[in-house]
Amino acid sequence: MANRLLGVISALPEELAHLSDLSGEQSLIGGLPFWRGRIADRDAVFVESGAGKVNAAIATTLLLDRFDCRALMLCGVAGGLDPALGVGDVVVGIGNTQHDYGVLKEDSFLTIQPGSRPSLGEDPTPGYPLAGPLAARLREALTGLVLEPLPETVGAGRRTPAIHFGTILTGDIFVNSERTRQRLHAEFKAQAVEMEGGAVAQVAHRWGADIPVVNVRCLSDLAGAESHLDFRAFLAVAARYASQVAHRLAPVI
Ligand code: ADE
Repeated sequence: MANRLLGVISALPEELAHLSDLSGEQSLIGGLPFWRGRIADRDAVFVESGAGKVNAAIATTLLLDRFDCRALMLCGVAGGLDPALGVGDVVVGIGNTQHDYGVLKEDSFLTIQPGSRPSLGEDPTPGYPLAGPLAARLREALTGLVLEPLPETVGAGRRTPAIHFGTILTGDIFVNSERTRQRLHAEFKAQAVEMEGGAVAQVAHRWGADIPVVNVRCLSDLAGAESHLDFRAFLAVAARYASQVAHRLAPVI
């Protein structure tokens, strides 16, 4: 747990802004900036990975191999898939699935476990579930945490964001389509979609089943036709809520 060096991955600078003071030793590897620092009294290495699965896989490999991190946390924003959720709600992943690795048939797409051979008859439940004891520690750590209402200035009303545990999808696609949002939600029963978590989980799994990966995402948009506009409007505030939750979780990963 807390004595393992924690690697913290965010795609964008806005997502890292509230996580560390970025004052620790810095290095640039493969064009990716890494910083040593602390989060919630825990030693950590932070990386700004850039968006997408390949960037996330490079960042994760370096955290595990060069920095010897033995626990990982993603922190940032996501698009909401579940119509019950709103902008500002935070989803902590209890499982991560890559929705875009699979077999494209004439009229459908079959998702399979990333890295597995794309022949038919694959495991019908691809993904990387969070271990039960870790999920219990995360829930416990968030007990009593109440997020403050969204600021008036962001234009989403004064609703108070809630924290959910749910499935997070990953793909090399910014979802900007109501039809796709509905399909992803119906097919995977997932709460949120982003572009890195499933790749981090895939790399960590290859390193060893005992490397925990915790994914903390605040909804910047609802993945529909307006998601590109909402993403821009809510990125900064959503990143702040995600980092508040991440600070509570870092000690128990
Ligand atoms: N990250 C934030 N919003 C997203 C969206 N709509 N699709 C994919 N990744 C996202």
